[in-house]
Amino acid sequence: MEKFVVHGGSQLSGSLNVSGSKNASLPILAATLLTREECVIRRVPDVSDTNYMLQILQNLGAEVERASGNVIIKCEKIRSHEAPYDLVRKMRASVCVMGPLLARQNRADVSLPGGCVIGDRPIDLHLKGLEGLGADVTVDGGNVHLEARRGLIGDTIDMAGKHGATVLGTDNVMMAAVLAKGTTVITGAACEPEVVDLADFLISMGAKISGAGTPRIEIEGVDELGGVKHTVIPDRIEAGTFLVAGAMAAKDQITLKRVNPEHLASVSQVLEACGCGLEIGDNTISISRAENPVGANITTEPYPGFPTDMQAQMCALFATTPGLSVVKDTIFPQRFMHASEMKRMGANIEVDEGTAMINGVEQLSAAPVMASDLRASAALLLAGLTAKGNTEISRIYHIDRGYEHIDDKLVGLGAEIERLPAD
Ligand code: EPZ
Repeated sequence: MEKFVVHGGSQLSGSLNVSGSKNASLPILAATLLTREECVIRRVPDVSDTNYMLQILQNLGAEVERASGNVIIKCEKIRSHEAPYDLVRKMRASVCVMGPLLARQNRADVSLPGGCVIGDRPIDLHLKGLEGLGADVTVDGGNVHLEARRGLIGDTIDMAGKHGATVLGTDNVMMAAVLAKGTTVITGAACEPEVVDLADFLISMGAKISGAGTPRIEIEGVDELGGVKHTVIPDRIEAGTFLVAGAMAAKDQITLKRVNPEHLASVSQVLEACGCGLEIGDNTISISRAENPVGANITTEPYPGFPTDMQAQMCALFATTPGLSVVKDTIFPQRFMHASEMKRMGANIEVDEGTAMINGVEQLSAAPVMASDLRASAALLLAGLTAKGNTEISRIYHIDRGYEHIDDKLVGLGAEIERLPAD
C-alpha cells in the first residue's frame, strides 16, 4: 500500500485552488437517477469516493463519462435496483441511491452500510423517512429491501435524531419526495451547504423545493425531472483542512481560492480566536500563523456549528498550541483514532467519553503512523508538517477517498511530501 513521507519543518506560502465538494457531489450524482435525460456535473473531485459512486450508478445502468473534472451521466434505463454489498461497504454514502431509486421505480435493494472507525453508522432515520413516504421496508441478510407498491405519497416527515439531523438521510427523503404524489414537509432537516447544493440541483431539474438550508424543507411532488448542467459547491472541509495547514506552517500567509467563506464561518471564527490572522474575500481566504497562539474549546454540531469533519484537523493544531484545548465530538463521539497516532508523535492528548483534552507540546516528533479514516489521515499529514523529522503515514488510501491530490497541493505551497509506492 502507498504511504506518505512528510519531511517536517517546511514553511508554506502561496495559494491553491480548492476542489469541488466530495460531500455535495455524492448525493448529486445519485440524483441523476431521477431523470432519463443527460446531466453534466462540473467540479466533481477525482477521488475514490466519487469514483465508487459512479461505479454504483453504472451498475444500475447509467452511462457515465468523466472528462477533466466534469461528469456526464445519463440514467436513461435502469437495469437493476440493487446497490450490492461489495460496493456499499467501500463507500457508505452509496445509501443515498435509495431515495432516487424508489422515486424512479418504486423499488430499491441496498446493502446495509455497516459501521466504520468513526462510529456506528446507522440508517434508521433514512428508513423511517422513506417509510413515511409510503415505502415498505424489510431488512434481511444485511440488505434493505424497499418497495412502494402504490408509489410514494407526500407526508410530513421528521428527520431529527438523537445526534441532531442526518445529512444523507435528509438527502434521501428529499430525493424520494420530489417525484412523490402531493406535498412533503421535512422537519428536523439537515442544514448543511451540501444539502442546499443538492436542492439547487433538483430545483434546476424541475423539482419544487423551498426551505433547503433550514430545518424545515417543503417539497411539492412533480411528474418528471429533466437533465441539467450543474457546478458543485467548493469543498468546505478540504478548505478548512488547508486553513489549519496554514495556521500550523505558513511562512507569512497562504491563500485559498475558489472557496465559499460563508461555508467556513465556524472554522474561521475558531482559528481567529486562536490568534490566526484571516483575510476573507468573495471567494478567497488567506491565513497567517498566530504570533501568540492560544488553544480553544470546541464542540462539534450540525451546520452552521463547528463541523465534525474538521475535528481531527483541529486536534493536530492544538497538539502544538500552548495550553489546554478541549475538543468534544457530539456527532461521532468515537471519532478520535487520530489521537492515538498523534500520541506516537509525542502529543499530549487524553480522550474520554467523546472529548479530547489536549495539552500543547513544543514540537511533535516524527514516527511511523497509520491512517484510519479520511479526516484522521489528513490530521496526521498536518501533524507531520511541523514535526521534527520525517513522518511516515501508511494506508493513505483513506486520504485519497476524499482529498483530490492533497499531497500535490501541499507540495505546491512548499511542503516536502513524498508519495511512496507500495512496498
Ligand atoms: C455526512 O455523513 C458526511 N458524509 C460526513 O462526512 C459527516 O461527518 C456527516 O454527514 C456529519 O456532518 C457525506 O456527506 C458523504 P449523518 P452522514 O447521517 O450523512 C446519526 C467525511 O469525512 N444517524 O449526518 O452519513 C449518525 O450516527 C464524512 O466526509 C442516525 O442515528 O452523517 C451521526 O451521529 C464522514 N441515524 C449523526 O446522526 C441515521 O439514520 C449524523 O450523521 C443517520 C444518522
